Amino acid sequence: MRLESPRGTKDLLFDEARLWQYIENELRQLCETYHYGEIRTPIFEHTEVFQRGVGETTDIVQKEMYTFLDRGNRSITLRPEGTAGVARAYIEGKLHGAVNQPIKVYYNGPMFRYERQQEGRRRQFHQFGVEALGSEDPAIDAEVIALAMGIYERLGINEIELVINSLGDLDSRKRHRKALIEHFTPYTDELCDDCRSRLQQNPLRVLDCKVDIDHPAMEAAPKILDYLNDESKEYFEKVKSYLDAMNIPYIVDATLVRGLDYYNHTAFEIMGTAEGFGAQATLLGGGRYDGLVEQFGGPRTPGVGFALGMERLILALQHEEIELPIEDELDAFIVTIGEDNVQKEAVRVLHSLRKEKVKIDKDYQGRGVKAQFRAADRLKAKFVIVLGENELEKGVVQLRSMATRDEQEVPLADLTKVLLKALGGKSK
Ligand code: HAM
Repeated sequence: MRLESPRGTKDLLFDEARLWQYIENELRQLCETYHYGEIRTPIFEHTEVFQRGVGETTDIVQKEMYTFLDRGNRSITLRPEGTAGVARAYIEGKLHGAVNQPIKVYYNGPMFRYERQQEGRRRQFHQFGVEALGSEDPAIDAEVIALAMGIYERLGINEIELVINSLGDLDSRKRHRKALIEHFTPYTDELCDDCRSRLQQNPLRVLDCKVDIDHPAMEAAPKILDYLNDESKEYFEKVKSYLDAMNIPYIVDATLVRGLDYYNHTAFEIMGTAEGFGAQATLLGGGRYDGLVEQFGGPRTPGVGFALGMERLILALQHEEIELPIEDELDAFIVTIGEDNVQKEAVRVLHSLRKEKVKIDKDYQGRGVKAQFRAADRLKAKFVIVLGENELEKGVVQLRSMATRDEQEVPLADLTKVLLKALGGKSK
């Protein structure tokens, strides 16, 4: 039996899991401030949700999906991203009929892509994302971008850069597509196999190719910004003016195309600029996808959103040496000296204090008194409660503050009250 976790996956334990919980909590709170509510969609979907949503010609669909037939012979895929599933859920839940529009949701969970493992790139990775469906107001693009930037600000990450572009509307994209085909066709023989077929099916994908990235024709390729029609230009200008109004700095990069097919108009990424970030510097990506819901057979519904990689967010924290307050401390540790009666009383005390939300533990290894005190120290207990045969007989415990080393005798009946007070009025 192979005991290591499958390539591209990782176990999260103790402090690491605590760090994730802390971050997830902060992100949830931030999303609530922006009035986004949580959505939880399945981890697997029918394969066509991603084939049609993310796009047949993308690397994700062509090379990276975990797809299998289930026992009922259905083609199932572990979700490689969250947006397509949200669009599917939006249609199924008839959310277009809801009174409050746009529908603003956030999600958080594992995604799966069969990629080469490296730092910041895993096969099971985790995304935190938001989607706003039902509005084509450029102010909602700006809101989503502001929320994305707010995440890093909230965690104290400074070394980031927001890059934006516009992919325009259908009309602009058609003209750009034609120009791309004309531009790349003379080089057909020099492009990789994938790009040769991409050139016919979806030439925008050629710009996103990881193999031909250094081909000289790439740099001179027609830029979408030069093909935007007036409406698309105006839309982009409005998004930028809202960002300006919020003092959010950005760089316009006409080569930003994103790796998924559903985008139009606004596209953006946040890059980590701290030293140490290599090729996996994209912390977050998103954009507008006005055609996705309709493409799934739903009503015409504009949408915009983003997703960030949790693993990369944590790398950014590490690169900037940011320590988040995730200390694991105990309120109290109960040290016992004695056999059955003492143990039984200790269990009772533990149980009643836990009901009052006191974070407390005891020894379960049969350790001696000294070793129990050492354990209390190691576990950073604020107080130690000593319970021995003598104390039990007298109906008391010794309560010792580990900070001041002060010790007082407290009647068992008063212990909860005294300890809660000593802990600074810990709320019930
Ligand atoms: P994406 O650019 O494919 O967009 O992924 C978003 C983020 O997920 C990336 O910027 C990166 O931080 C993280 N990520 C992607 N693949 C991996 C991996 N193999 N290992 C670790 N992290 C990874 C989307 O997925 C879109 N659904 C975003 C979106 C939402 N657009 C609109 N709404």
